[in-house]
Amino acid sequence: MTYAVAMPVAPQQPAGEKPAKAHLPDAQTVLSVHHWTERLFSFRVTRPKSLRFRSGEFVMIGLLGDNGKPLLRAYSIASPAWDDELEFYSIKVPDGPLTSKLQHIQPGDEIILRPKPVGTLVHDALLPGSRLWFLATGTGIAPFASLLCEPETWEKYGQVILMHTCREQAELEYGRRLVSSLHDDPLIGDMVDGKLHYYPTTTREPSEHMGRITDNLTSGKVFADLDLAPMDPEEDRAMVCGSLAFNHDVKKVLEGFGLHEGANSEPQEFVVEKAFVGDGI
Ligand SMILES: Cc1cc2nc3c(=O)[nH]c(=O)nc-3n(C[C@H](O)[C@H](O)[C@H](O)COP(=O)(O)OP(=O)(O)OC[C@H]3O[C@@H](n4cnc5c(N)ncnc54)[C@H](O)[C@@H]3O)c2cc1C
Ligand SMILES: NC(=O)c1ccc[n+]([C@@H]2O[C@H](COP(=O)([O-])OP(=O)(O)OC[C@H]3O[C@@H](n4cnc5c(N)ncnc54)[C@H](OP(=O)(O)O)[C@@H]3O)[C@@H](O)[C@H]2O)c1
Repeated sequence: MTYAVAMPVAPQQPAGEKPAKAHLPDAQTVLSVHHWTERLFSFRVTRPKSLRFRSGEFVMIGLLGDNGKPLLRAYSIASPAWDDELEFYSIKVPDGPLTSKLQHIQPGDEIILRPKPVGTLVHDALLPGSRLWFLATGTGIAPFASLLCEPETWEKYGQVILMHTCREQAELEYGRRLVSSLHDDPLIGDMVDGKLHYYPTTTREPSEHMGRITDNLTSGKVFADLDLAPMDPEEDRAMVCGSLAFNHDVKKVLEGFGLHEGANSEPQEFVVEKAFVGDGI
């Protein structure tokens, strides 16, 4: 399944006229770019005035392909709904149709952004609870970066636990910086203190805490390490974002604790969204 969407091609320049700078459809301007590893980067773009979204949702973004048609992919908005700019956190797939080009964007460049946000990782899709778990692998942390900066998260829950797992330590750095910046945030800094539990783990390089999220939940290790009670469907709510295999396995673990999967149309105790489609690069 791909997300490329065909659009009408712009009319040809009349003969003899100077070519104007090509403007992309639904263009937004790149404001900054940060490369975290050889496989990961983040960037900020201008926000269309018309764009309203709920923290945790995703939009379609992209560039013009070689055939002159927009080449679009789903991307979680990593910045919160109140921010004047939009942030995205991206993989670099070496031969990926979009990211082999997108990884080279520079400030001042334009990208395409379709202003139609959707997604299930939103507060409205969960029943009220007292603890909220964000469970992510790799770039699946992006929607939770948005939700961690969202005041509603801290107003609704007494405790928020972010479990983020990657193969290597360097891949955790985007999340580490985000978490440490939350405490100094003028909007939510005071709300975060004492409520946030951050549990980053690696699976293929030694680090303070290791292991897959599924294993750390089923063994009870994360509850022991953070001095928290095990999950309980009365109290706990969860949002999940990772590969198809990860989502599938975490769903089984959460169901084992008695939680049920919900959706926008039917709020329950947890919600799931794919961080990407496909299994291998
Ligand atoms: C709902 C949704 C939200 C998404 N949000 C993000 C996001 O915030 N950031 C992001 O980087 N990607 C995100 N993606 C994936 C994104 O849509 C593209 O797949 C990705 O940008 C690569 O595009 P591509 O054209 O270069 O390669 P594609 O042809 O799209 O992908 C090629 C292969 O690369 C692998 N791959 C793709 N994306 C990832 C990834 N993020 N992590 C690990 N492996 C991957 C898969 O094996 C895939 O088959 C999301 C996907 C969905 C469905
Ligand atoms: N990350 C890299 O350095 C790297 C480099 C080159 C290419 N790639 C390719 O890029 C693709 C995506 O790699 P990625 O590292 O972003 O994502 P990934 O393979 O989904 O792994 C991300 C994290 O999720 C864990 N995980 C995977 N499946 C899980 C499951 N079913 N249940 C619980 N935890 C699970 C992994 O643990 P495990 O380590 O135990 O699997 C890893 O810690 C892969 O096809 C990979 O071959 C990755």
